[in-house]
Amino acid sequence: MVHVDNAHETVLVVDFGAQYAQLIARRVREACVYSEIVPNTISVDEITQRAPKAIIFSGGPKSVHTDGAPTIDPGVYELGIPILGICYGSQLIAQQLGGTVNRSGRGEYGRTELHLSQHSSQLLPQGVADGDPVWMSHFDAITEPPEGFHISASTNDAPAALIENPDRRLYGVQYHPEVAHTPHGQQLLERFLIDVAECQADWTMTNVIEESVNAIRQQVGQGRAICGLSGGVDSAVAAALVHQAIGAQLVCVFVDTGLMRLGEGDQVVETFQRTQGIELIHERAADVFFEALEGVTDPEDKRKIIGEKFIRIFEQAQGGIEDARFLVQGTLYPDVIESGTDEAAKIKSHHNVGGLPDDMEFELVEPLRNLFKDEVRAVGTELGLPDEIVWRQPFPGPGLGVRIIGEVTPEAVSVLQHADAIVREEIATAGLEREIWQAFAVLADIRSVGVMGDERTYARPIIIRAVTSEDAMTADWARLPHDILENMSSRIINEVDGINRVVYDITSKPPGTIEWE
Ligand code: XMP
Repeated sequence: MVHVDNAHETVLVVDFGAQYAQLIARRVREACVYSEIVPNTISVDEITQRAPKAIIFSGGPKSVHTDGAPTIDPGVYELGIPILGICYGSQLIAQQLGGTVNRSGRGEYGRTELHLSQHSSQLLPQGVADGDPVWMSHFDAITEPPEGFHISASTNDAPAALIENPDRRLYGVQYHPEVAHTPHGQQLLERFLIDVAECQADWTMTNVIEESVNAIRQQVGQGRAICGLSGGVDSAVAAALVHQAIGAQLVCVFVDTGLMRLGEGDQVVETFQRTQGIELIHERAADVFFEALEGVTDPEDKRKIIGEKFIRIFEQAQGGIEDARFLVQGTLYPDVIESGTDEAAKIKSHHNVGGLPDDMEFELVEPLRNLFKDEVRAVGTELGLPDEIVWRQPFPGPGLGVRIIGEVTPEAVSVLQHADAIVREEIATAGLEREIWQAFAVLADIRSVGVMGDERTYARPIIIRAVTSEDAMTADWARLPHDILENMSSRIINEVDGINRVVYDITSKPPGTIEWE
């Protein structure tokens, strides 16, 4: 089970298979309280060992009446730890403590109105009024709360939408306080965390930085560490944090493939070497990549070639730092949850960086292992990294190599870099940068006929791809206003040589992918 040692009071979010468990954990941290996600199979002994200040049960897709529906050791209710059940979690509390959960008939999905009861409530925030909106997603509903609980609020299809047992500090809420569509949701969570469970609210990014710096110093001692920079936010923040801790003992390696976006390579050098004063080995390797990619058109071949060259160059770049024993990586908490292991153990480097010599063994330094992406961004900003890096869009490892359909040549990269810069500039001018997950250009290897001035043209098109997404697993094409698309189109045609047509990709994922290759 994933567990990160630190000195903070912890709230355990028990995962009952909901898509919302991570969101709940993030909301708890937004209240400055440290949270961790644990599986519902956790034993009472393990919970006792972890000594959480409070426990939250997440929602889940099952009905408590289904065979094999996830449950929890009922001994948890005897620990005297405050518990809040959300949706399925609330129904489970009701069922396990002797209340009644029934099919309510219609179920409720989406926005509904909250009706307040006469009972005073410990959880409802000041100012919540009868009829206020809340966000629901349930089929079953509690019809009879367990003994000792009162009903503080209901909705049309959930007669016990908020149940409370203040004596035992057990609570259940049928609606979703963690989603933005429930306006007073965050306040409800904070009443539970701060007022009921008396958490200290000490999970701030300033504390996170200070504690990480101490932990890194302890781990690395007088040793030397290396970090591969990609230009992305995770490796950048990890490097900045480690540099804060061990200064010149850290060396960063930046392999410039020539396949990055316009000006991006220079920006990495500027930010790390000049502004942050980090020792940087800058490998200008564009020629090597272009040579290796000559005549290659298959997307998988391109990915393989780029990946392998990258590793070889990273390996050679270590000239002079062969004594580095530590490898810094920007692993985040969601990756840790997914892999289901808490062992930041020694690894053979080639498992991780793929292809470093077998006799080199690194110990990993992973200072972001217990952070969510939004926390990583906050740490980056606090460490003085520029917005261009902290808010950088996700970018594929093989870079523009997989956004050029067909052969990757220096000319094609230059055309695409300029078109891509225009797409991103227009998104920035419209203030949409943080709403759009990714917006970029793709260069297709077809030609179409056009006319410019009196001349017939026969040239390549640029495809604009802009998507909204939560996690890149699914995505929808962004409904960009037509005038923004028009600006992109006319600027690309006028400013980028060799392009005579611009098209907009209106495919969601699935069935499409975000990238074209
Ligand atoms: P797809 O195209 O599969 O992409 O919908 C999902 C997300 O992953 C990014 N992506 C990559 N990131 N190395 C990376 O680090 C890669 O090889 C790679 N390929 C795709 C993509 O930009 C999107 O955010």
